Amino acid sequence: MAKRKLGVGFIGAGFITRFHIRSWLSIRDADILGIVSRTEERAKEAAALAKKLNVGEAKAYKSITDMVADPAIDAIWICAPNFARLENMEEIVDALERGKGELIGVTCEKPLGRNVKEARAMLELVQKAGLLDGYLENQVFAPSVVRGKEIIWTRGAAISGRPYLARAAEEHSGPHMPWFWEGELQGGGVLNDMMCHSVEEARFMLTPPGADRNALTPVKINAHTSCLKWQIPDYARILYENSGGKTDYIRRPAEDFARSLLEYKDENGEKLIVETTTSWSFVGAGLRLSMELLGPEYSLLINTLDSGLKVFFSRNVKGSAGEDLVEKQNAEMGLMPVVSDEESEYGYIAENRHMILSFLRGKRPEENFADGVNVTELLMTAYMSAEQEKTIAFPPPDLDSFVPAVAKGEWNPKKS
Ligand SMILES: NC(=O)c1ccc[n+]([C@@H]2O[C@H](COP(=O)([O-])OP(=O)(O)OC[C@H]3O[C@@H](n4cnc5c(N)ncnc54)[C@H](OP(=O)(O)O)[C@@H]3O)[C@@H](O)[C@H]2O)c1
Repeated sequence: MAKRKLGVGFIGAGFITRFHIRSWLSIRDADILGIVSRTEERAKEAAALAKKLNVGEAKAYKSITDMVADPAIDAIWICAPNFARLENMEEIVDALERGKGELIGVTCEKPLGRNVKEARAMLELVQKAGLLDGYLENQVFAPSVVRGKEIIWTRGAAISGRPYLARAAEEHSGPHMPWFWEGELQGGGVLNDMMCHSVEEARFMLTPPGADRNALTPVKINAHTSCLKWQIPDYARILYENSGGKTDYIRRPAEDFARSLLEYKDENGEKLIVETTTSWSFVGAGLRLSMELLGPEYSLLINTLDSGLKVFFSRNVKGSAGEDLVEKQNAEMGLMPVVSDEESEYGYIAENRHMILSFLRGKRPEENFADGVNVTELLMTAYMSAEQEKTIAFPPPDLDSFVPAVAKGEWNPKKS
């Protein structure tokens, strides 16, 4: 190992960056040394959080170029909104090409791009710059997913045969910032935002331990999208008001519900099924991530809201609204589950450890931009299926140029 400690800089200072900063409490071999955001104020706030938690002497930089130019920065975590992905990556590569600085690697939050063209451009840019690349899909690092896979494959699958069905669901009551709700800015609705987790987690579970991604071949995809809740006028009004009058779900909604059925072939040509359900219209205690893996003589179940810790508050406890019990919390009263270590349980700690160690060892992370491209290809095929209301063989011919109607502001189920 040439370098012993990695200096990491973040692009974006919002919700997910703060999750990563808190996860760093359990990280060795890397310090958070830089933050860039759209506004310097937010970058300074995030840098102050990193310093307060003692996870690095983070500085707020005025630009990505300035951060790349600092010899203390060895790697960059791209955590800005989806619409800024390519411009962020282009600025990194431009700074490197102009000799402003040197980097070992770049990681990028999900999704890698808003469509296949963008995701491929991200991969091409990182390769052109000769950088190591990590795709930040936290759920394939979640301890219950990793440990569950290990147990199922070494016990159940070894004796009775491989798993043949994976079900994954990601649900909550809707994103925290207006840009997520805008099809053009985000790339779609809940299908793009959350099914990226489900398809990758399910593929990971169905892939034999140690086998590479190509062990499973996608065959066909059937998907459905709807806007069940947020086109109801009272709810559309909430989005309108929260966005200062920009988000108009009566005229330009995005899907708040999406399901998909993906058929794969395994290494022996046998059929495997992935079933996913995602929604922004689930009102429960908070974010619910669930996963099932089924095989001939076994099954696995994960539900992040079935937590070991629960608290009860009577009707006389009338505190302010918060997210202190669970991400996307919906209530503060009654019997409430608590996810006591979200940074660990959702996989952020193990994800960051893997990325950091891979970069320090000069190895490409196991989850990388090629996986991000594959995920985007599956999601775009799912959008095609939902739009055409039919099953689509994978890969469809026009995948590289496809942009979902919702990302063009042209999707409205109330009109058809
Ligand atoms: N893995 C997961 O489960 C997960 C969860 C949430 C989000 N994400 C992903 O993480 C990314 C960020 O989401 P978020 O929830 O953190 O969003 P967010 O809370 O809206 O924060 C976005 C941050 O990026 C900054 N920003 C905006 N435009 C930028 C630009 N052009 N260049 C640099 N910074 C810019 C914002 O700046 P200012 O605040 O200064 O204006 C803000 O600090 C998204 O791609 C999202 O899909 C992943």
